Amino acid sequence: MMFLQHKNIVLGVTGGIAAYKCAELVRRLKDHGANVRVVITNGGKAFITPLTLQAVSGNPVAESLLDPAAEAAMGHIELAKWADLVLIAPATANTIARLSAGMADDLLATICLATAAPIAIAPAMNQQMWHAIATQQNIDTIKKRSVHVWGPGAGEQACGDVGFGRMLEPNEIVQHCLDFFDDNHADLLAGQHWVITAGPTREAIDPVRYISNHSSGKMGFAIAQAAQHLGAKVTIIAGPVNLAVPDNCQCIDVQSAVEMHKAALSQVANATVFVACAAVADYRVAKVSEQKIKKTDSNNAMNIALVKNPDIVADVAALDNKPFTVGFAAETQDVEQYAKGKLQRKKLDMIAANNVAKQGQGFNSDDNALMVFWLSGQKKLALTNKVELAKQLVATINDRMLDD
Ligand code: C5P
Repeated sequence: MMFLQHKNIVLGVTGGIAAYKCAELVRRLKDHGANVRVVITNGGKAFITPLTLQAVSGNPVAESLLDPAAEAAMGHIELAKWADLVLIAPATANTIARLSAGMADDLLATICLATAAPIAIAPAMNQQMWHAIATQQNIDTIKKRSVHVWGPGAGEQACGDVGFGRMLEPNEIVQHCLDFFDDNHADLLAGQHWVITAGPTREAIDPVRYISNHSSGKMGFAIAQAAQHLGAKVTIIAGPVNLAVPDNCQCIDVQSAVEMHKAALSQVANATVFVACAAVADYRVAKVSEQKIKKTDSNNAMNIALVKNPDIVADVAALDNKPFTVGFAAETQDVEQYAKGKLQRKKLDMIAANNVAKQGQGFNSDDNALMVFWLSGQKKLALTNKVELAKQLVATINDRMLDD
């Protein structure tokens, strides 16, 4: 499931320049499955039109407390009851003061009083206004009433000042929403066992040399952490990596593809999901030298015979009682074509493909983007940090399992 699926969010848009980012915010919330209904104040309308927000949210925008037609459609009390979260972004100094005072003289303020749902605000104002004692006291007051305050961020402001007061970016606000609702999913994968391979393998040439690759293991470890966080029992089978094992995950350390193959097949017997995230060497040295191979004056060239390694994920996918099996495809070109080919050839349930030729993502990077394919569909997971991406991938895997 998408983590915001079936979540009803009332988005209050008030009168700050950052309101122009709300169309993007609505889009991103909807990408995660949320239902969004916008309530806009008169100030908000000076910065973004209700028509824009209606188009992106797919719902009428509520503007006035005293509009009989709107009240007949979905009145303020209904909206207040409908919400799983009331999010005000941008929240101006004026809005924060009015929240603190408990005003009920416009639609948004009234909904905030009438709702039993949690309220979150993303403040946006000039840095001096943010630091003003009155604003800080209002923030203290609403925090004591359990209003969540997300941001503000620091940086250059529309007025030219620099400092705290910038509204968080839409993706940061969405991340707060995801984290906020995350806690309610702590047992989503309870009873499931996830086995995840991660990192590179190391294929010995002799006692001091080996063949390997640039995989850091970060993506596999992030997937492990995300699955564990949702209540799964998690076993990581890791090649040589330099990473801390996520809390409450079991980790089996291996070196070579053959060792990883053996560990994986012994672990998947009762597993629910197998994620092959490791960058397994396709070939190993046919005959590992017992002694260090010496350079000689006579030989300018050297040949090392290689033999094919077992295909771990294909062997898991071929088991009678196979877990839901997910592979990865790291490609430098024709990503979709190669990924779909592997999905079918290896008989996988799903494959997550990334373009490792792109700068700043994939191997050894903290960020990544994935295109996920299964036989009857596909999904794009946009460029973000691997921790967030892993959460989205785990949710996508669980979605597919429920659908199958
Ligand atoms: O065939 P290719 O190596 O590109 O396939 C990538 C996928 O297959 C990854 O999920 C990887 O972990 C898995 N794989 C494997 N065993 C191998 C080679 C690849 O499990 N020997």
